[in-house]
Amino acid sequence: MSEIKACIFDLDGVIVDTAVYHYKAWKRLANELDFDFTEEANEKLKGISRKESLALILSWGGVDKTDAEKEELARRKNNWYVDMITAMTPAEILPGALEFLQALRQSGYKIALGSASKNAGIILDKVGLTSYFDAIVDGNLVTVSKPDPQVFLKGAEMLRVEPAACVVFEDAVAGVESALAGGMKVVGIGSRETLGGANLIISGLHEMNLETLKKL
Ligand code: G6P
Ligand code: MG
Repeated sequence: MSEIKACIFDLDGVIVDTAVYHYKAWKRLANELDFDFTEEANEKLKGISRKESLALILSWGGVDKTDAEKEELARRKNNWYVDMITAMTPAEILPGALEFLQALRQSGYKIALGSASKNAGIILDKVGLTSYFDAIVDGNLVTVSKPDPQVFLKGAEMLRVEPAACVVFEDAVAGVESALAGGMKVVGIGSRETLGGANLIISGLHEMNLETLKKL
């Protein structure tokens, strides 16, 4: 068993509650196209790229669009989403996230971000957390989406830490699978029913501390 040396964090739904903003913007788009989707269906969109999310949503609505139309729809959704995230402040950091990042830093752990979002940089900047990360892997750097392990393996590589010495924090089914496929430990943020494969399930980073981390 390797000693834990690094933590890799998903962003949306782990550090900030932007998962809600993604949901609102996708729902608005679906409603404009005259259909709706449930919060349960939304779980499948977590951790999935913008393009793949749109393809899933259109398939749920039974709607066919050309590539050019899809691009326009994804652009429209992203504009609404960006309007919401540019208004974010540090008050929107989820409970316990800042404290845990500070504790990790003080104890010399390496920290990376592993997010599918192309907007990750703006969000970290708006909530004032950019300086906590030794490496930032976002949707602009990855070529394949979670559940492929690429995003987290890239993070580990940039930190120069072997995958087995990394713990990933994830709220998405696809993200938990991605971390496990990369040979990492994973803490699921959410419910056991959805994130069954994780090594530990917590409801938020306020439940996390260095002692629990060392026992993983
Ligand atoms: C994260 C979210 C997904 C989102 C993806 C792309 O993984 O969990 O819901 O679709 O990022 O985000 P973007 O900001 O690039 O549209
Ligand atoms: Mg997430």
